[in-house]
Amino acid sequence: MANRRLAPASEQPAAFAFSSENADWAKGQIDKYPEGRQASAVIPLLWKAQEQNGGWLPQKAIEAVADELGMPHIRVLEVATFYTMFALEPVGKFWIQLCGTVPCDSCGARELKDYLHHRLGAPGHVSADGNFSWLEVECLGACCNAPMAQINQDYYEDLTPDLLGKLMDDLAAGRPVKIGSQVGRTSSEPLGGADTLTDATLFDGSRVGAWRKRFEKDEENEAGKEEAASSEQRAASDPKPARPDAGRAAERPVTDAPAQRAAAGETPVKPSDKDDAADRTESTAQPNTPAPAAPETIAKAEAAGAEAGTQSALPRNEPPPQPTNSGASADAAAPASAPHPSDPKKGN
Ligand code: FES
Repeated sequence: MANRRLAPASEQPAAFAFSSENADWAKGQIDKYPEGRQASAVIPLLWKAQEQNGGWLPQKAIEAVADELGMPHIRVLEVATFYTMFALEPVGKFWIQLCGTVPCDSCGARELKDYLHHRLGAPGHVSADGNFSWLEVECLGACCNAPMAQINQDYYEDLTPDLLGKLMDDLAAGRPVKIGSQVGRTSSEPLGGADTLTDATLFDGSRVGAWRKRFEKDEENEAGKEEAASSEQRAASDPKPARPDAGRAAERPVTDAPAQRAAAGETPVKPSDKDDAADRTESTAQPNTPAPAAPETIAKAEAAGAEAGTQSALPRNEPPPQPTNSGASADAAAPASAPHPSDPKKGN
């Protein structure tokens, strides 16, 4: 990992300010964040300051960004020195960031580093012709095509010292170069070409369509089964309420009601019913209904039945007749030979 130090004072500009165009752009970036969160725009603003300053960040630019965002200078310096995408010293026309992390190191990054040392000298210095400077950085996320280097904004992969040398020659001469893999592989497919997923039907839609149809059919079947199961469940757990007349005898229309008599032109209430309702003193019992037995008769019959072990022949489905109003209580009417069990005087 390279040293992350500010350029010497002799190389630092005396001042830095965003151009009016970049100031507007910076304001747009800051406005993306809510009030009090303007510090979130620190990286875009540093990036724009580096771009405006010819590809590297002088100290004054770091301080200007801090002032713009209301941040302490040291906090913005921490950000600028942490991320290797910010160059802290002047860079060449082509700034080479060579990945030295394990996958690239395993695939030959060390040879590339030796090559750059040999051609350009120590990292962090601009070549004599002003074309190149280089820096070793950590993983740049293209490990599948290791080893690799980023030159300005583009990635160059599958490098060897020879390929890197030719690439640098072409760049310096202004010839067109190929971005990405330098050995002809597409994206990050295996060296020598793809050896999996080679069936054309995987990509023409036919196979995908067939699988989709099968999934859709399965889903329909599943949905049908679930619907049937839930209907059965509902029927078991949520029976329908019975009809209001369920279990009742069918009611038949009343044939002799006052309303019907009135409708038929008859007198709604029969004269005999009126008479019965008017005379409340007269018994409604039928003439041949036997008179209720007297209390003494009932008591004698009960005692005789008890001795004989038989039941009284008196009707039991009627309330016993009450004694006439003599002023005697129910206790007084009880036989003297039946003392109350809780009375100690009469218990023996
Ligand atoms: S290790 Fe080099 S790109 Fe990831």
